[in-house]
Amino acid sequence: MKSVLLTTAAAVVVAAAFAASAISAPAPAPTIAAVPERAANFQLTDTSRLAHELHYFKEAPAIVLMSQVNGGKTSRETAAQLAKLQAAYKAQGVLFYAINSKDSRDAAAAEAKAQKFAFPVLMDELQLVGEQLGIQREGEIFVVAPKAGFKVAYHGTVAETAKAIDAVLAGKPVATPRIEVKAGNTIAFPERAKKAQHAAISYSTEVAPIIQEKCVACHQEGGIAPFAMDSYEIVKSMAPMILESVMSERMPPYFADPHIGTFQNNHALSAEQTKKLIHWIDAGAPRGSGQDTLKLNASKAPDWPVSLGKPDVIVTLPSFDVPASGTVAYQNMRVDNPFKGDTWLKAIAIKPGERTVLHHVTSNHSPDRGTKPAKIPGGSVGSYTPGAEPQVIATGAGAPVPAGGKLSFSMHYTTTGKAATDQTQIGYYTLKAPPEFIKRSTVISDFALKIPKGEARHKEIAYLEFPADAYIYTLYPHAHYRGWSVELKQKTADGKESMLLALPKYDFNWQRDYDPIEPILIKRGTKLIASWIYDNSTNNKANPDPKIDVTWGEQSWQEMMYFRVNYRWADETVDNVRNDLQDKLMDSRTIGALDNNADNKVQIDELTGTMASVRTRFKDLDTNADGGLDKAELAAGNVSRASATRDLKDADIDL
Ligand code: HEC
Repeated sequence: MKSVLLTTAAAVVVAAAFAASAISAPAPAPTIAAVPERAANFQLTDTSRLAHELHYFKEAPAIVLMSQVNGGKTSRETAAQLAKLQAAYKAQGVLFYAINSKDSRDAAAAEAKAQKFAFPVLMDELQLVGEQLGIQREGEIFVVAPKAGFKVAYHGTVAETAKAIDAVLAGKPVATPRIEVKAGNTIAFPERAKKAQHAAISYSTEVAPIIQEKCVACHQEGGIAPFAMDSYEIVKSMAPMILESVMSERMPPYFADPHIGTFQNNHALSAEQTKKLIHWIDAGAPRGSGQDTLKLNASKAPDWPVSLGKPDVIVTLPSFDVPASGTVAYQNMRVDNPFKGDTWLKAIAIKPGERTVLHHVTSNHSPDRGTKPAKIPGGSVGSYTPGAEPQVIATGAGAPVPAGGKLSFSMHYTTTGKAATDQTQIGYYTLKAPPEFIKRSTVISDFALKIPKGEARHKEIAYLEFPADAYIYTLYPHAHYRGWSVELKQKTADGKESMLLALPKYDFNWQRDYDPIEPILIKRGTKLIASWIYDNSTNNKANPDPKIDVTWGEQSWQEMMYFRVNYRWADETVDNVRNDLQDKLMDSRTIGALDNNADNKVQIDELTGTMASVRTRFKDLDTNADGGLDKAELAAGNVSRASATRDLKDADIDL
């Protein structure tokens, strides 16, 4: 990508004139030259928190974008006309979107609802996409032709849009590809007037520190990224790719919606950092004066996380040869418990021997046969998934490892076409004295999921109901390659809902714990409701097979609907262990997995995927004949996850 801000001098003047007020009266604005020949890739989140990436739709025959502002008469009229076009071109698969570069997401969501917009409203909160497309006012229409390299085949009024779409569908040039849009309020893009300032952004004191802070941990010698950002020359040569990866929200790999919750180790670029980096690249990534601080600070990736230092105990697992191709069964590796006596962990870091083949690790402590039950509970002793960070237990709590027994690791390897040998290490950081609280974990999952073949946005929900107050430490969503987006909300006993975590775009390659900055108090009777959207279409580049209906399974071509939550019971301490609460939490597991409309009953059509066989028993199970199975009826009929899937013990504990 060359330049994304092809602003003309005239446009700068107009933008500057109206920079003070967000919307001003209609004014003559030559938009023609500001519109780029091609639409560069971007990803934006819509008002319902779903992400949309432009270049994902490479098979679409045409994509129609409309600039929109809340309350604008032109926006509303244009949207109404566009809705008609959307209906007319539905069969052809033409896609329609609005882009809002002005209002807040909540306000835009309210407008979209009130106006019954027929298409998603993409929130261009940083205005970078609007700047890129040369948007100047509301009601501008862009017709993009994906098959012609995402060419902006048409920019102009809604009146001429049908003709433009027809031409694009016919593979012909649009007769009048640029029509000046004169009606409608202008939208202020203050940065447009600052080209000179952008050219003066200092690599040395402004850009290099951003890269140092947000990229270098992985992009350094020996780091997990494929190239080190350790000099101006490298950054400059990678600048177009950096721009693309940031605009399409692939890099840095941190995907939590910034409007929902606040989490530790947030790698995301701030709004200001993103704008600075993009504007600097767009200005040609000038070197400017001052030292090359990336070069001065260049270092090698440490063996263990800098924040944790060297582990107290390192467990080296047996090495394993992964063949070039085929499916590898889960490998169970057991080692003697290396700890003397009951031990509490404060952090765990897993270091894969060969990242390319190690897909994930789950683990648990297993007691020796015939020994009496330990005083402290067992649990996970570390897990790893692609992109994972070290697991750090919240202050005041510890992860228990009872004395004796074995540490068991379930290793899942994938083949890559190249044989490789993995020898994974686990670094343990121990507490020197018992903590006050016990870190617990549970999993919200839907083992009855069924994702129809080809479906692009299939939704599944699952929940667990907390039988007592708890403090949430960690949220960890997990699905396989068809996972597209995920959210977790809480619904209290009195029906109030609030969102705890949202990933508008889930990326299988980047799974991590989201630890709220402050543990979140969940009141007794609260349901934690996870909802996943899956993409089983061909557009999903990662989809192993869009031609099959997908059900629950451990292998990557199957799917999971899985959400681990780490927490502590508010009333539990190391001296007052509450395994009863842990058991009680499981009471809602089966209903929470099956009950897709969260009405506390399982209707027959909610028995899908691995649970479809239960349908034949439905009438017998529904003892009160109200058309739904409640918790008691499910329990009486022994309907459970175990009856549906094979042993998921490891995954149950942690993943
Ligand atoms: C947590 C580790 C991590 C961080 C932080 C990170 N990257 Fe990356 N980056 C990777 C890995 C790994 C790849 C290889 C491709 C992949 O696996 O997605 C990559 C690939 C890239 C690429 C190659 C093109 C692509 O999109 O695959 C670019 C460009 C890039 N990163 C830019 C950045 C920038 C800019 C930052 C900081 C703002 C950043 N990365 C932060 C790990 C990271």
